[in-house]
Amino acid sequence: MRIVITSSEVVPFSKTGGLADVAAALPKALSLVGHEVSVIAPYYPQILQQYRGTLPAIESTGLSVYVSVGPKQVEGRILRSVLPGSNVQVYLIDQPIYFDRSGLYVENDQDFRDNSERFIFFSRAVMEATRVLGLNPDILHANDWQTGLVPALTQIEYRGKPGFAQTASVFTIHNMAFQGQFWHWDMLLTGLDWKYFNWRQMECYGHLNLLKTGISFADMVTTVSPSYSREIQTPEFGCGLSGALSSRHDDLFGILNGVDTEIWNPATDPTLARNYSITSREEGKRACKVALQQRMGLPVRPEVMLIGSISRMTHQKGFQLLEQCSGMLLDQEIQLIFLGSGELRFEEMLKKMAHDHPTKVATTIGYDEPLSHQIEAGADAFLMPSEFEPCGLNQMYSLIYGTVPIVRAVGGLADTVVDASEENLAHRSANGFSFREFRSDVLFWNICRARAMFADKLKWSQLQQTGMGQDLSWKHSANQYLQVYERAIHKQSV
Ligand code: ADP
Ligand code: GLC
Repeated sequence: MRIVITSSEVVPFSKTGGLADVAAALPKALSLVGHEVSVIAPYYPQILQQYRGTLPAIESTGLSVYVSVGPKQVEGRILRSVLPGSNVQVYLIDQPIYFDRSGLYVENDQDFRDNSERFIFFSRAVMEATRVLGLNPDILHANDWQTGLVPALTQIEYRGKPGFAQTASVFTIHNMAFQGQFWHWDMLLTGLDWKYFNWRQMECYGHLNLLKTGISFADMVTTVSPSYSREIQTPEFGCGLSGALSSRHDDLFGILNGVDTEIWNPATDPTLARNYSITSREEGKRACKVALQQRMGLPVRPEVMLIGSISRMTHQKGFQLLEQCSGMLLDQEIQLIFLGSGELRFEEMLKKMAHDHPTKVATTIGYDEPLSHQIEAGADAFLMPSEFEPCGLNQMYSLIYGTVPIVRAVGGLADTVVDASEENLAHRSANGFSFREFRSDVLFWNICRARAMFADKLKWSQLQQTGMGQDLSWKHSANQYLQVYERAIHKQSV
C-alpha cells in the first residue's frame, strides 16, 4: 500500500505532545511490514535548532508548491529527510512566514492569530506536494485539526485527478479539545465553496471548524483508543461534536497508540544511569532512582515511594485535583517529581510546592527529553489523573519501565491500566492503580493505596512484572490501521 501520513508535528523534527510521537512511530511500524510510507510535516527552523546534532540530514528536493490561500499565492519549498532508523521519507514544507517562529501554535501563551491561515496553507501544500512528488497514495492519513482540510480537499478537489485516482482519506482525532475553530470569514482562505459551510460539514455554531471538517469528509475516522471513541460520542466528552461523531458511528474506530520501543526501552535507553530488563529491574531501577533523586536534589532514600509526573500542566491532565489534595499529600512520606509546562497557575503551584518542601518535591518547568526518560526509569509510580485522555503515552512508557501508573480510568488510561484490586491481582492482570471519580479525595486515597502496596515488595513486583511483560509495541495497532485503510479504500472503490 502507498500511504501518506500528514501531521503538524513529528519526532524528531518537532513536538509539543503525543501527536508527534505517533506521527513518527506509526509510519515506521507500517513501513516495517512492507508498505511504502511518506510523512509530510511543516519545517520549523527555530524549533529544529533545539534538536541540532541529533537530527538526520535535511536536504532540498529542488521542488516547490504554489498554493492559493485566499487571495495570496504562497510558495512552499519541499525539503526531504528520513525518519531515523527507517526508510520512511519525510517531506518538510518550508514557508518561513508561517513556520519560522519560536513556537508551533502558541507564543507567550497566546495562539498565533493566523493559525487558520498557516494550517490551511499547510493542508493545501500537502495535497500539492503529494502531487508533484508523484507519491500516488492509496491512503492520505491526516491528523487533528491542523490537517482537517486534507480529507475535504481530497474529496472535493483532488479525487480522480492524476496522482489521486484511488486515493482514500483517513482522519485521526488525537484530542477533541482542540478543534481549530475560527471565524466564518476564514472560509474564504480555504478556497472552498460556501456551500460546504453548513452544520453537517465545516460549520459549527457559526464558526469554521477544521476538526469537524476532517470528521465530515474523511472516508474513515479513527481516534486513539477504544474507550475515547465511545466517550466522544457523548455530550460529556464530545466537546460539541458528539452529534457529528455519532453520525459517523459506522466509520469511527478507536485504535490504541503503541510505544516506539526503539526510543522507549529500559534495556537500551542511553539516557539512563543503568539499563535494565524485566529480570534485572530491581538493581536497574534502584540505580536509576538514586541518580534521579541526586539530579533533582532530593534526599537519596530508596525506601520512600517516588512518584513522577511528565505532562502538560493543564486541566486536561487533572492538576486541579492535585492542587486540592496537595496539603494532605505533603503530610505523607513520599517524594514527588514534576516535569512539564502549561497553565501559569499550575506551574506556580508546583514550583511553590518544591520551594516549600524541598525534601519532598522537585519541579522542573520546561521541556527536557532525557529527564523525561530518567523520570520514567527512576520513579516508583507515575501520576496521571486526567479529566479526559484520548490515549496517553506516558502511562504506557511507565508500564514498560516498571513504573506503576496511578491513573483515572478514562479514555486510553482505562484501556491500558488495570487496577490492583484483589481480584485483578489474583488473575495477574493488575498493572497499576485506576479510579473512576474525578475527585481529589479519590486521587489521594489511591496514592495512599499505592503507597501501602509499595511496602509489600511481593505485590509491587507483581505489578511491575505484569506491566513490563505486556506487548505495547506498535505491531498490533499498525495492523488495525491497515484494516481501517482497507475499509477506506473499499469505500472508495464501490
Ligand atoms: P499529550 O499529547 O496529551 O500531551 P501524551 O501522553 O500522549 O499526552 O504525550 C505526551 C508526550 O510528550 C510524551 O512523549 C511525554 O513524554 C512528552 N512530554 C510532555 N511534557 C514533556 C516535558 N516537559 N519534557 C519532555 N517530554 C514531555
Ligand atoms: C493527544 C492526547 C493524548 C494522546 C496523543 C497522541 O495529545 O491528549 O492522550 O496520547 O494525542 O495520540
